[in-house]
Amino acid sequence: MVELKNINSIYHLNNGVKIPCVGYGTFRTPADVAEKAVADAIDVGYRLIDTAAVYGNEEAVGKGIKDSGIDRHRLFITSKLWNDHRGYEKAKQAIDETLQRMQLDYLDLYLIHWPANQKQFGTRAAEINAETWRAMEEAYHEGKIRALGLSNFMPHHIVDLMRTAEVAPAVDQIEVHPGWPHVEEVKYLQAHNILVEGWAPLGGQGAKVMTNKTMLQLADKYGKTAAQISLRWLIQRGVLPLPKSTHRERMVQNTQLFDFELSDEDMKKIEALPSLGGQCADPDDVDF
Ligand SMILES: NC(=O)c1ccc[n+]([C@@H]2O[C@H](COP(=O)([O-])OP(=O)(O)OC[C@H]3O[C@@H](n4cnc5c(N)ncnc54)[C@H](OP(=O)(O)O)[C@@H]3O)[C@@H](O)[C@H]2O)c1
Repeated sequence: MVELKNINSIYHLNNGVKIPCVGYGTFRTPADVAEKAVADAIDVGYRLIDTAAVYGNEEAVGKGIKDSGIDRHRLFITSKLWNDHRGYEKAKQAIDETLQRMQLDYLDLYLIHWPANQKQFGTRAAEINAETWRAMEEAYHEGKIRALGLSNFMPHHIVDLMRTAEVAPAVDQIEVHPGWPHVEEVKYLQAHNILVEGWAPLGGQGAKVMTNKTMLQLADKYGKTAAQISLRWLIQRGVLPLPKSTHRERMVQNTQLFDFELSDEDMKKIEALPSLGGQCADPDDVDF
């Protein structure tokens, strides 16, 4: 078990690349807000920034990174390939467009945002994911991306991908928050040396994490906020949380996670809660 002391304590990905143990999310952060929000997040200490082509804010996030004045090499920048750019040719184009929009020479991590699923693509789904991955492997070998990963891939999608992949995925970013623990998936990914990043760690927009009675009781018990209890719960499971906030004081609060420890009993209590927000979508059932 790695000892984590602050948000920039590191995990080593399966290719040796170092990644901070907490990141800053930018989903639903509009472009006109994202530049300042990202600069603020870096200013309060975040070094891992998570965006995606579909968020429509890559350009603003790139500007926020520049505004921060922090050396690019000290940051860890992630973006994701959207579903309209699956397949070899389009994926190559998507990577170059993201780099262009963000004004970056390289990304630290690039993810397939959602797997092509059988519901939409029938028997071609696995082949489409393999072709997308092949383009990403090329970009990896060209030095455009330091680590390759997935998002919303369940174990069976990974088994399919590994039939042709030459580079193993280093990360899978999946929805993890109280009441949506993804226990079996996290176990599988960690057993295969794939770092789990947790999206919607606070339950996403309008999160119920902050108002749930059990979470508030735990917040009281530990002298923390419900948001901090939620984030700490992910960290103790070895899951890397990506909290999003456009409020500076919340950004700071979401970094103060290393001066307390949840008991085993409380960890289980949180796991057993009913789902507190998020999408709870089944990647095999989505239509996008
Ligand atoms: N791979 C995927 O498919 C996927 C899907 C969803 C998200 N993500 C990534 O994961 C990140 C996190 O997920 P998310 O943005 O959906 O949700 P989240 O981080 O779970 O929750 C964000 C919500 O919580 C509020 N909040 C943040 N800190 C708070 C605090 N300390 N106290 C009270 N409220 C607080 C935010 O409001 P304010 O901003 O107003 O403070 C916002 O409404 C995203 O930003 C994105 O980078 C990935």
